[in-house]
Amino acid sequence: MTHSCTGTFARHRLMLAALSLLAAAPLMAQPAPAPDGPALFRAHCASCHGAQGTGSGPMAPALRRVPPDVTLLSQRNGGVFPEARVRRIIDGRDVESHGSRDMPVWGEELKLTGDGAHAPSVGARIDALTRFIASIQQRRAQ
Ligand code: HEC
Repeated sequence: MTHSCTGTFARHRLMLAALSLLAAAPLMAQPAPAPDGPALFRAHCASCHGAQGTGSGPMAPALRRVPPDVTLLSQRNGGVFPEARVRRIIDGRDVESHGSRDMPVWGEELKLTGDGAHAPSVGARIDALTRFIASIQQRRAQ
C-alpha cells in the first residue's frame, strides 16, 4: 500500500519535472545579451567610416567615394539627428557604397527578411547601432 503510494508520488514528481523543463525551453532559446551598438559599429562600419565615425577607416583610400563623417549627421540636418534615415541606411537602403539591399557590405546581421519585416534580433541590432550613432553626434560649435 505504502509502496504503490510512493510510486505514484515519484511518477508525479517526474511529470512535474518534465513539465517545468518544457515550460523553461522557450526561455532558454532567447538570445541573452542586448546588442552592443559600439561593438556593432566597430565590426560593420568602422572599416570605412573610421573607429570614431569621422570618416577615415582603413578601407577609405580604396573606395571610389569618400566615407562621410557620420558624427556630423545632425549638424548637416539642421541640428536634428536624422534617425529614420539612419535606420533606412543601416537596414540596407539608400547608400550605394554599402552594397545592395540583398548583399550589404555588413552581411546578414543587420538585414531585413524578404517580406520587409525585421527579425526581432535584427531590429534590436539596428536600434542599438542607431542609438550609438546618435550618441556620437558633434554639437554645433557655439
Ligand atoms: C565599404 C565601406 C563602408 C562601410 C563598411 C560602411 N559605409 Fe557607410 N558609407 C560609405 C560611403 C563611401 C558612403 C558615402 C557614399 C555613398 O553615398 O555611396 C557612406 C555613407 C553613409 C551614410 C550617409 C552619410 C551622409 O552624410 O549622408 C551613413 C549614415 C552611413 N554610411 C552609415 C554607415 C553605417 C551605420 C555603417 C555600418 C553598419 C556603414 N555606413 C558601413 C562606406 C561604407
